[in-house]
Amino acid sequence: MAEVPPAVELRHVTKSFGTRRVLDDVCLSVPAGRGFCILGRSGTGKSVALKHIVGLIKPDAGHVLVEGEDITGLSSRALARVRKRIGFLFQNAALFDSITVGENVAFPLRRHTDLTEEEIRARAGRLLGQVGLEREYDKMPADLSGGMRKRAGLARALVLDPAILLADEPSAGLDPVTAAEIDALLVDLKRRSSTTLLVVTHNIPSARAIGDELVFLDGGRVIARGSPDALDRSEAPLVRQFMRSLGTG
Ligand SMILES: Nc1ncnc2c1ncn2[C@@H]1O[C@H](COP(=O)(O)OP(=O)(O)OP(=O)(O)O)[C@@H](O)[C@H]1O
Ligand SMILES: [Mg+2]
Repeated sequence: MAEVPPAVELRHVTKSFGTRRVLDDVCLSVPAGRGFCILGRSGTGKSVALKHIVGLIKPDAGHVLVEGEDITGLSSRALARVRKRIGFLFQNAALFDSITVGENVAFPLRRHTDLTEEEIRARAGRLLGQVGLEREYDKMPADLSGGMRKRAGLARALVLDPAILLADEPSAGLDPVTAAEIDALLVDLKRRSSTTLLVVTHNIPSARAIGDELVFLDGGRVIARGSPDALDRSEAPLVRQFMRSLGTG
């Protein structure tokens, strides 16, 4: 049987901005169909790591592979093909401010599919319903709360049924109930559609719910990895401290 390549791999990725080395020889491998969480203090390069996976940032050294394909040197056209398989919820949601919430969610469908107008609206509306925003289709992003914007961003990230979902702090800034709902949605997604989840979170209950495996970044390096249970017993004080926290957001 042919072996399924990891959904995402970082091989010895190093990245500096100016004199600051943000990622220092980072290796990680995200098995297809699993949940994987990246944790670590603010400014340790978690968002930078995610942006490498869609080619928004290129490594100074090392390689980034998506479903076994090295994307490091791809042309923008080839990169577009890879990106179609990946949904990305940015840390700040990154909605387009000049179009409605519904049109934000519909945008990838208009760009990448031949669906009819009716089908597009129906699908975008359904995705908004899944994140509890069925009534906000015609609102402008500026009229939503921060948590609602984030949920709209999640609907947009999911609208093409991505094989891989990258979510940068999907539950940060949400109340605990809504945060738990988002977690449940992600766990359900993984179970139903075998979507690979790669989630950056500070929220330990989320990480336990979503992550089959967690990695901790610190100082640009992977300092620990393993199942949540294994990391509860980590040798690294920072990791134990994180694992004991109930930290939301
Ligand atoms: N495009 C960029 N140009 C210059 N510096 C950058 C750029 N993107 C990120 N950085 C720097 O890289 C470092 C890591 O940033 P990153 O956003 O990955 O942190 P993070 O781990 O996601 O933190 P947080 O938990 O606060 O979101 C920071 O010092 C940041 O200023
Ligand atoms: Mg970040």
